[in-house]
Amino acid sequence: MKAVIPAAGLGTRFLPLTKNSPKEMLPIIDKPAIQYVVEEAINSGIDDIVIITGRGKEVIENHFDVAYELEKILEERGEKEKLNEVRKISEMAEIFYIRQKMPLGLGHAIYMARKHIDDEFFAVLLGDDIIVANQPCTKQLIDVYEKYNASVIAIQEVEMEYVSKYGIVDAEEVENRVYKIKALVEKPAPREAPSNLAVMGRYILSPKIFGYIEKTKPGKKGEIQLTDALNMMLENEELYAYVFEGKRYDLGDKFDWLRINIEMALKREEFRERVLELLKKLTNQD
Ligand code: UTP
Repeated sequence: MKAVIPAAGLGTRFLPLTKNSPKEMLPIIDKPAIQYVVEEAINSGIDDIVIITGRGKEVIENHFDVAYELEKILEERGEKEKLNEVRKISEMAEIFYIRQKMPLGLGHAIYMARKHIDDEFFAVLLGDDIIVANQPCTKQLIDVYEKYNASVIAIQEVEMEYVSKYGIVDAEEVENRVYKIKALVEKPAPREAPSNLAVMGRYILSPKIFGYIEKTKPGKKGEIQLTDALNMMLENEELYAYVFEGKRYDLGDKFDWLRINIEMALKREEFRERVLELLKKLTNQD
């Protein structure tokens, strides 16, 4: 299976940083967000990845490329560990890049990959969503796809008061954690939401989606929404949702970025004690 990673959005929720730096390159301690996403795809058995980029996102391509001068210097200095770390990134997978000339929405970004995908089901991993899980989230979705032979969307329950930040599914449970979708609603008000099951940035999609995106008219903010194309596809094809196991962070959101950095630091031996001490000190001061 191939994967598409849309990473061409403007990231307006993370200004001023995103004026000239992609949010997909935000560091989680020492690793950019998009590297986690690429690693999730690889750990799910995918080795052909298309990243959708746009103006100002060249730094993403450079990150996955060979860094000749740096590698030469590290080699000369005998810094083997760092050299391996740097080399590993450029050897990870076969990555292709397609430019989305204008950020016309997630549906439009995915549509850019149609010629690369051909006629097969494919995975979509949003470049600013990180999911920390024992089994990669995309692999969990692939398992459901293999059982039902249909498109699958990752979902998780959210507090009812936050449904208006997400795509929400109207769905019926068919087995533990698996739902059959009846409709999708983009960012509903809590009293209009059909459930509190929110779409979380990982999908396995039928190639038929490209035809429906083509027919989708620009919606809110003039963007071509994936949700609208999925609703059209639902009229002719089955669509499932899966409550994945894992923790999701939306790096387009400033607080989620802070949260993942603190949580990841607490997981790393070299930082754990110092971060705990710092937090204790800071909370005692309040
Ligand atoms: P977001 O909804 O988080 O979009 O997109 P955004 O427009 O970058 O962010 P804000 O709302 O202005 O802060 C989800 C994913 O889809 C990509 C983004 O890069 C992100 O990974 N995307 C979005 C595109 O590739 N192209 C687009 O036109 C829109």
